[in-house]
Amino acid sequence: MRRRDFEGSGGLELMQELVQRTWSPRSRLHIGDVAWERAVNLGRSGDTWRTAVWDEGDQVVAWGWAEPDHLSLVVDPEWAEVAGDVLGWFQEREPDGVVSVLEAETHLIEALEKAGYHSDDEAPFFTHHRISLSDLRTPVVPEGFTLRHVRADEVKERAAVHRAAWSDWGPSKVTDEDLAAVMSTWPYEPELDWVVEAPSGKFVASALIWHDKIHGVGLVEPVGCDPSYRRQGLAQAVNLAALHAVRDAGATEAMVCPRGDNAYPQARALYQSIGFRPGARSRLYVRG
Ligand SMILES: CC(C)(COP(=O)(O)OP(=O)(O)OC[C@H]1O[C@@H](n2cnc3c(N)ncnc32)[C@H](O)[C@@H]1OP(=O)(O)O)[C@@H](O)C(=O)NCCC(=O)NCCS
Repeated sequence: MRRRDFEGSGGLELMQELVQRTWSPRSRLHIGDVAWERAVNLGRSGDTWRTAVWDEGDQVVAWGWAEPDHLSLVVDPEWAEVAGDVLGWFQEREPDGVVSVLEAETHLIEALEKAGYHSDDEAPFFTHHRISLSDLRTPVVPEGFTLRHVRADEVKERAAVHRAAWSDWGPSKVTDEDLAAVMSTWPYEPELDWVVEAPSGKFVASALIWHDKIHGVGLVEPVGCDPSYRRQGLAQAVNLAALHAVRDAGATEAMVCPRGDNAYPQARALYQSIGFRPGARSRLYVRG
C-alpha cells in the first residue's frame, strides 16, 4: 500500500478514478460532485486543501480530502480497512475536524465510530434524490424565453447567471475564472449545461449535469434562477431540458443532492416537483 500526498488541486484525476470505479447508489459522491466542488472552489480556498491517495498496485483504493477541517473520503468497500488510515491521516492534522458520509456508506460509518466519531444529528444534511429518465415531462418556458445549452466561449454569461442565482445570502464570490475552471474540468460538457435566455438575451436560469458514462447516471449540480425571474417555472424547465440532453447522450438515471433539513426546503421542493424521489441522507460526524 502506498500513500501519495497532494496540495491544492493535485490528485483530482485519481479521486475521480476511484469514485467512478466504485460508484453505486450507496455512494455519497459522483464524479461530478468532485469535479464541481474542486473546480468552483479552487481559486478561493485551494491553497488550504490537502489530499491523500492510497494505492495498491496500480489501483487507487482510498482517498481523503481535507478542506482543511472538513474531510470527504472515498474508500473501496473491498478495502474497508483503509478507512481507518484515512481517518488517522486526517486526525493528525485536524483533531477537531468533521467528516461527511452518506448513511448508506456503512463501511465508513463503522470506521468513524471506531475512531471515536459520532453523528451530529442537529447539523444540516443533504438527501440524495433519484429520477429515472424513461418518462420525462417536456420542458416549457414562457413566451419569448429560450432554452438552450451554453457554448464553450460563454464563460462570462454563464458565470453571471450563477452569481445572480447564488446571491440570496450576499454577493456570490464565484468569479468568471472559477466558472472557466469548471468548464475545463472533466467530465464537463457544454451540451449538458443548460440555460434559459430571457427575451433580452440575458441568461436567467441554469442547470448543469455531469454524466458518468460508465454507470449511465447524470448528476445535477448546480441549478439556479436569477431572483428577479423566480416562480415562473424556469428552474424546472431548464432542469428538465438538461435531463433530456443527458438521456439523449445515453444516461438512464439522474441524481441530485439538495439539503434535506427544513432550514432550506426550496431546492428539494423544486426537484420533487420534477419527479426526483428522495433516498439516503448524508451525515456529519464529529468527535468529542
Ligand atoms: C431553488 C431555485 C433554483 C428555484 O428556482 P425557480 O425558477 O423559482 O423555480 P420554479 O419556478 O421552476 O419552481 C418549480 C417548483 O419548485 C418548487 N419551488 C421553487 N421555489 C420554491 C420555494 N422558494 N419554496 C417552495 N417551493 C419552491 C415549487 O414546487 C415550484 O412550483 P410552483 O411554483 O408551481 O409551486 C431558486 O430559488 C434558486 O436559484 N435558489 C438559489 C440556488 C439554489 O438553491 N439552487 C438549488 C440547489 S443546487
